[in-house]
Amino acid sequence: MTESTWTRKDLLGIAQLEPSEIELILDSAQTFLEVARRPIKKVPTLRGKTVVNLFFEPSTRTRSSFEIAEKRLSADSLNFSSSSSALVKGETLIDTALNLQAMAPDLVVIRHGHPGVPQMLAERIEAGVINAGDGAHEHPTQALLDALTIRQHKGRLAGLTVAIIGDIEHSRVVRSNIHLLTKMGATVRVAGPRTMMPAFVERLGVEVAYTLEEAIAGADVVMMLRIQLERQGKKLFPSVREYFQLFGLTRERLKAARRGAIVMHPGPMNRGVEIASDVADGSSSVILEQVANGVAVRMAVLYLLSGMHREAA
Ligand code: CP
Repeated sequence: MTESTWTRKDLLGIAQLEPSEIELILDSAQTFLEVARRPIKKVPTLRGKTVVNLFFEPSTRTRSSFEIAEKRLSADSLNFSSSSSALVKGETLIDTALNLQAMAPDLVVIRHGHPGVPQMLAERIEAGVINAGDGAHEHPTQALLDALTIRQHKGRLAGLTVAIIGDIEHSRVVRSNIHLLTKMGATVRVAGPRTMMPAFVERLGVEVAYTLEEAIAGADVVMMLRIQLERQGKKLFPSVREYFQLFGLTRERLKAARRGAIVMHPGPMNRGVEIASDVADGSSSVILEQVANGVAVRMAVLYLLSGMHREAA
């Protein structure tokens, strides 16, 4: 696939994407990385386009990364937070969306606690919709930035073994990563406490391990997940200390991974819970590279969905 054959209006999840579309986004992001190295970090690519950022859940990385990506592309951005909007006066999300649509934005970036909200929005408004995380469903731009980071270090995705450890049940990051990595030919091995493992997880096409050691043995990539305390209805492990003893990544445990393995985390990190500080800050960690790549991935997604590649052709 090339830019000229990209026709999607929305990015709702990785599940809908073809491998060739994933490749195109990653290749495009790789070229946008160069903008961050310029003295003036701005290109006119989305001049005249309007992007609305709707965040109904807290975010540090995703929100600021989209905002920086929009600014670097010269788009006009509107940042909308649920607490300062008419939603607190009882307006429905659909009415809010239709009112925003009346102002003719070109793209809407949305994070929401309920799975399926970006899809519902995409079906009702003309603007392109980008899912910035919907409940425990998908977080497509996170998986794309993870893939870009892995590709930069390992040169490929196919044939790699990626161990993902932690709260598999409540993580939208893991769902999007499973879709992406398996589509691109990697082996995904998941591990976590049984109380945090979805039923029939094998049906997602992954290998399942129940100990950290088993999961990371020979892995090329070790991806640690945050414990999603806010999405758990009840306490799913006895104590933080016990969780770290069983599933926390330490330098000693990392030795079981393949030589040169990289350590990833989508953030925000719970140091001393899922990952030891010396691993998070150590030479195998690519956590801050993930954040840097996030801006380039979001620039690529905004560019492709904006249709500007067709106008330029
Ligand atoms: N990785 C991620 O989604 O982080 P934020 O919640 O800070 O956006």
